[in-house]
Amino acid sequence: MRANIALAPACAAVAMAALIALTCQSAWAYPGGPLHDVTDAAPYCAGCHSSVGVEQLRELPPEQARQRTAIIAHIDAIKSGRGPYAKLNPQQRMELIADVEKVDANSKIAIEVPQQVKAGEKFTVTARAQGGSGPVFGIMLLDVDLRDQAREIQGEGFQIASPPKVIGPDGKPQDQWLGRRYDGLAHNLNFVVVFGVKTDLATGKFSSATVTYDLVAPSKPGKYTICAALMYGTETASPIGRVEVAGRPMPLGGFAGPSGRILFSKVADIQVR
Ligand code: HEC
Repeated sequence: MRANIALAPACAAVAMAALIALTCQSAWAYPGGPLHDVTDAAPYCAGCHSSVGVEQLRELPPEQARQRTAIIAHIDAIKSGRGPYAKLNPQQRMELIADVEKVDANSKIAIEVPQQVKAGEKFTVTARAQGGSGPVFGIMLLDVDLRDQAREIQGEGFQIASPPKVIGPDGKPQDQWLGRRYDGLAHNLNFVVVFGVKTDLATGKFSSATVTYDLVAPSKPGKYTICAALMYGTETASPIGRVEVAGRPMPLGGFAGPSGRILFSKVADIQVR
């Protein structure tokens, strides 16, 4: 498994950089969302997150793909009391797994895309998402559902014509994310962090939000694909999975733990005529 060995230093480097950043800048954090990365994004950035299934890793050898799925990287780690989960007794491990599975079962993302458009035509794509552990989740508009190789939708030749419109969990338009863009920078990003996400496992309540993108079709006719990804957390929704670090809620599995997720919508075909 040469590739696994090669992966290890990369993960350690990410974790180290992340820890340094955490100690230097308490407002910067990944659990809690990548709140300073207010730019276009693709899911490869979420290296610590686990995948909801192997399909999004289908370019990898099957065993490598399996190791990055939530069931192996996260659930099995809790089950066997690996690392930070060692402090839980068997009953608590079962409860944490049940909580995490409930978050996963209620986390969804879907998109609406027209079947065909004319080259250069303006049209709308809507992404609807639900779930996560809160206080935020992230939505990205992409070309394909491959976690390590998906591109921002602009990479395929679609332009994002205006700032994406976010309707938050309270049903109101939300500008908290794009409002963080530095003075004068354009707001037409493919990535949005949605704020105000509240999850209550006891009552089974989950937040949902929509993001609407105005796109301009590529000038070159042909068959294209569009999909969306949801970046969310699981553990901080659980009373067992939530710990306080420097006064902030953090997942028990740690800053660089596997409790984050990458979930894709179905991939929509779109014909540009
Ligand atoms: C250092 C590891 C790490 C990296 C790198 C990382 N994340 Fe995360 N992220 C996490 C963890 C751990 C959680 C889960 C918190 C939980 O389980 O509740 C998380 C959760 C999230 C959440 C939901 C917020 C929350 O607290 O539940 C979003 C949105 C998110 N990540 C987006 C991203 C994006 C986008 C990137 C790439 C720019 C990224 N993450 C990179 C570790 C990471």
